[in-house]
Amino acid sequence: MEKKNIDWANLGFGYMQTDYRFVSNYKNGAWDDGCITEDATVVISECAGVLQYAQTVFEGLKAYTTSEGKIVIFRPDMNGERLENSARRLEMPVYPKDKFIEAVKKTVKANEAFVPPYGSGATLYVRPYMFGSDAVIGVKPASEYQFRVFTTPVGPYFKGGVKPLTIRVSDFDRAAPNGTGHIKAGLNYAMSLHAIVDAHNQGYDENMYLDAATRTKVEETGGANFLFVTRDGKVVTPKSSSILPSITRRSLIQVAQEYLGLEAEEREVTLEEVKDMAECGLCGTAAVISPVGKIVDHGKEICLPSGMTEMGPVTKKLYETLTGIQMGTIKAPEGWIVEIN
Ligand code: PLP
Ligand code: COI
Repeated sequence: MEKKNIDWANLGFGYMQTDYRFVSNYKNGAWDDGCITEDATVVISECAGVLQYAQTVFEGLKAYTTSEGKIVIFRPDMNGERLENSARRLEMPVYPKDKFIEAVKKTVKANEAFVPPYGSGATLYVRPYMFGSDAVIGVKPASEYQFRVFTTPVGPYFKGGVKPLTIRVSDFDRAAPNGTGHIKAGLNYAMSLHAIVDAHNQGYDENMYLDAATRTKVEETGGANFLFVTRDGKVVTPKSSSILPSITRRSLIQVAQEYLGLEAEEREVTLEEVKDMAECGLCGTAAVISPVGKIVDHGKEICLPSGMTEMGPVTKKLYETLTGIQMGTIKAPEGWIVEIN
């Protein structure tokens, strides 16, 4: 199979239309079998639930070419489970995990020519999503839905690759205590758009959101969870019921404990204690682990000892081990790597 002629090394995190996508429709209480199609457009009612009341949930995962030239995806069962949970919270029909994994595999296989080669620094980002497609005008769930999966080759999420980021503590909240912060719903991202545009305008790379109830605890950014390393070398990730349960973050905790022999814990992290941390990073499918060098809290600068030029040493080990597992150079825990045949 011949690869597309793409400048893989210089890809950013953007959308490039690939040749195929998967589409399945839900009607009269059941999903159809779905199929791969070349049609990249969606035609729905002007009054569709997704357009009027934002009834949409999504996922994000990546396909990699391993050092042996195989195409693999990382923990798709976790994405499938999370999409099921997201759908339930928005009163959408569940697209079953097993069918989800099959749909992702089929879409990646069909777009094999777009999977970046090993060592190129790029990956194939896979975006499964579903939305209410029939008309609703009173506030209620739609009765028809569409599930789709498309792919796009991507490079690093943050310009500059692994250069440490500068982020600010946001005055805007991302999620309410009993709201939807723990699911991957489009509405969480819509409400973060003003905050991210404002952060960029002020020269920051991202927002650090705090818990909306007390504004004392670290939550996450608009598109990634936080990971900290304490001065005595322990990995700590914020625990909250209003952040997205990141698959990368959960994997990194296991990598820290089982591969690197580090202590790792998920617990509440106060903004107050961030100044005592040795390293900070943003973790997620798109972000992988992007190091944070500086956090600005209303003019007060918290400079991480790891500095503004390189990843901290523990963050670097975590990054290398996780990406090694994904690219096939380090043996993966059982079930983490799924090969596309
Ligand atoms: N938090 C938010 C708000 C996200 O959008 C993402 C991206 O998926 C993450 C965290 C990281 O989650 P994951 O590691 O499962 O990609
Ligand atoms: C992902 O990491 O998959 C996400 O969905 C984050 C998004 C901000 C691109």
